[in-house]
Amino acid sequence: MQKTNLFLFPTLVKVIDDFLNDEELKELKDKCEKVNKEYTRHFEGDGKTSHDILENLVTSEKINNELNDYIKEYGGVFYSDDYQSWSNVQNKGSSLNAHTHPNSTVSFVLYINVDGGVLTFRNPNPYVHYTTNKDPENSSEFLFSTYSFDCINKRMIIFPSWLEHWAYSNCDNRIVISGNKN
Ligand SMILES: [Fe+2]
Repeated sequence: MQKTNLFLFPTLVKVIDDFLNDEELKELKDKCEKVNKEYTRHFEGDGKTSHDILENLVTSEKINNELNDYIKEYGGVFYSDDYQSWSNVQNKGSSLNAHTHPNSTVSFVLYINVDGGVLTFRNPNPYVHYTTNKDPENSSEFLFSTYSFDCINKRMIIFPSWLEHWAYSNCDNRIVISGNKN
């Protein structure tokens, strides 16, 4: 007998806790709070973003180096050593609707000032709804239709840019930094 497990079409999501130290967290929080741009179409409710500013919000060599190390595990070819990053500042009730990150390969979120809440990803398989077991508690990563991660300050989550996701703000001055690497 020969048994083979082949993980076809896998989706790699990385979660790195305590990515920042206290000083780095404060520095980035101050930067984000200075951003005061108009709402983007991604938001509903009271939220602001620096997404349309071409200048990179994060200039940390540490983040760049660590991202470059992490994305090596995604394979593929990247066209630049740099990445783009921006801040989202949301107040209570604001939502960031389901979206992907076009023109990018690997993306990340970094939690700066959150009070609970989750980031939810959708299984991109259009046939996943055929799965009869809808109970995520008794399912597995091979069958999930969505999966949510807790939003925790200093946590970084890295994911393929095509993976659809969304989040809601359950507090005022919720600050998240996002970025793309292509
Ligand atoms: Fe996003």
